[in-house]
Amino acid sequence: MTRSISVSLYLAILSLTSLQASSYTFIGCTDIYKYKPQPDDPKAHYAGGTSAGCATYCSSLNTPYFYNQYNTGTCYCSSVTPSANQYTYGSGDQAGCEGSDYEIYAMKDPIMSFKLEGCYTTVTTSQHPGNKPTLEACFASCPSSKSVIFSPDSDTNTFDCKCDPGSNINSSGGGTTTCGEYAWFAYSRSLSKRRMEGKRRLDKQMAFDQHEKECREEEEDTNDTLSDLTNVVVETVIEEIGC
Ligand SMILES: *[C@@H]1O[C@H](CO)[C@@H](O)[C@H](O)[C@H]1NC(C)=O
Ligand SMILES: *[C@@H]1O[C@H](CO)[C@@H](O)[C@H](O)[C@H]1NC(C)=O
Repeated sequence: MTRSISVSLYLAILSLTSLQASSYTFIGCTDIYKYKPQPDDPKAHYAGGTSAGCATYCSSLNTPYFYNQYNTGTCYCSSVTPSANQYTYGSGDQAGCEGSDYEIYAMKDPIMSFKLEGCYTTVTTSQHPGNKPTLEACFASCPSSKSVIFSPDSDTNTFDCKCDPGSNINSSGGGTTTCGEYAWFAYSRSLSKRRMEGKRRLDKQMAFDQHEKECREEEEDTNDTLSDLTNVVVETVIEEIGC
């Protein structure tokens, strides 16, 4: 009994770990002339150039960014944030780049908590912090905003930065455009995975309470196996197997 619970817990942990590894936000494109990997950047290769493979690899190394060359599948894990004058045009108004260009993704907060809604020619927001040297500085100047919007300006090598307390992107008067220099990259905050799990736990609380007593014994059995995991993961796993 205990052993079979342990095995299913182990499988649940594996699938949770790979779920957690797949959180990444597209921040733009650059090319082989404007971007050179650092000599010691971890490098991998994924057939078909899939950004998911690169994300899983680099998140296991805990780097804040990765650069994924679309047509070769070459993947670099990086700690270097792109500068505004490194931007090139992408393949459309959503995530994705062309040919030998690199797709750039962020895997750390605050950017990771946002998702790209699209790229626009104009946007109207209630706040306009203005030109910032880095994307991080832009997101940091909009700490509680539900939307953050930036435009790479290669003349000044800064990111023009706007934000709004609401999550709707107001692009009225303009339209969508190819992501790249001078386009407005519009992001809205997505619920973090941990908060969603918290909410899901709350939804299940009533049913959960009834079984709590029985589950406590199983929890005791499995606590040894799980002693090196965080409390959050332990709680989530116990919920996953139906306790
Ligand atoms: C959207 O922006 C336009 C100006 O570009 C403004 O007139 C309009 O009121 C805004 N809409 C909303 C819902 O804020
Ligand atoms: C199992 O371990 C967790 C985290 O260390 C702890 O909070 C919990 O009380 C333990 N449960 C039991 C039944 O010992």
